[in-house]
Amino acid sequence: MNDTFLKACRGEKTEYTPVWFMRQAGRYLPEYQAVRSKLTFLELCKKPELCTEVTLQPIDIFGFDAAILFSDILIAMEAMGMELEFHEGRGPVFPDPVRSQAAVDRLIVPDPDETMPFVMETIKLLRKELKVPLIGFSGAPFTLATYLIEGGSSKVFLETKKMAFQEPEMYHALLQKITECTSLYLQAQARAGAQALQIFDSWAGIWAPHDYARFALPYVQSIIADLRKMTDVPIIYFANNGSTLINHTKTAGADVLGLDWRINIGEAAKMVGDHAVQGNLDPVALFLPQKELEQQIKTIIDDAQDAKGHIFNLGHGILPQTDPDKARIAVEAVHRFSAR
Ligand code: CP3
Repeated sequence: MNDTFLKACRGEKTEYTPVWFMRQAGRYLPEYQAVRSKLTFLELCKKPELCTEVTLQPIDIFGFDAAILFSDILIAMEAMGMELEFHEGRGPVFPDPVRSQAAVDRLIVPDPDETMPFVMETIKLLRKELKVPLIGFSGAPFTLATYLIEGGSSKVFLETKKMAFQEPEMYHALLQKITECTSLYLQAQARAGAQALQIFDSWAGIWAPHDYARFALPYVQSIIADLRKMTDVPIIYFANNGSTLINHTKTAGADVLGLDWRINIGEAAKMVGDHAVQGNLDPVALFLPQKELEQQIKTIIDDAQDAKGHIFNLGHGILPQTDPDKARIAVEAVHRFSAR
């Protein structure tokens, strides 16, 4: 078992910098497209054998040092009773968004083992196959709430902010319910065999710091505090676009803070002190010629030298248009430049 990733999460010395990419299983891979062409994304998410297959693809092809469970953060929102659709080219859609106290009251806090058995089954299948650690994940309550309130993806998050500012009791009741669901869901993943857990806060960066501190952070803290009572698996908190929030995000309770590319990783590592850092190559750097891509990778590894631990990753998900060969070049370069 290659445990370099887990060691880096705990801030222990490693022989080289471990690397994985957010969205490493996905549309940039012809092998994923071949599986996906036969069924819809949601159908795929509910078939453990196929989820296992697409999770393993990037590990087998590129030699990443960690695998991430193939699923989606919104699967747990469907389990809460929300109708969920994925539209080609438009992303996720909730046809009946949460805009009233009655809609909040209708949401259920599901038993994850009963409502999402396919996720736990995938984790168990993967643990039999994998020789690298398996990362389970969820969305952060705030990021999940944006999808429920907006009814899908958004640019300005008007409805979400309006609810938080104008109807704070309704907003907090909603967030509290999502938090309970997410907490149980991550605990179930750890019980099923996930060896690390990442919480994705994709939209954290839309808040002013003082609003982030009251409308998003406390729910993440609560989930992590619950997890600490039952497991010691490393917890990664990725607050996308969060470089102006680090003084808050470092109090979330995570072992590792994920970083997007908008901040120098060395400066961030100084700010977070006792945490390992994960990141932070611009996903578009994978479109550079090999020499320049390698230079960018080397800069990040050098800048992160004094971090308590460094897991190399992209600053956000790999783009579907990426040439898979660039992923291979990047993994190889991370291993080569970081060999100690
Ligand atoms: O390889 C992995 O990283 C594991 C699988 C994974 C997916 N989604 C698969 C997926 C993970 C960890 C996610 C997380 C996720 N899902 C996030 C947080 C990370 C981030 O990107 O900020 C968010 C916000 C979502 C919600 C979501 N799912 C959106 C907005 C979309 C549509 C946009 C897009 O990229 O297509 C999805 C669909 C989705 N999730 C796909 C995959 C492989 C594409 C589905 C397809 O095959 O058509």
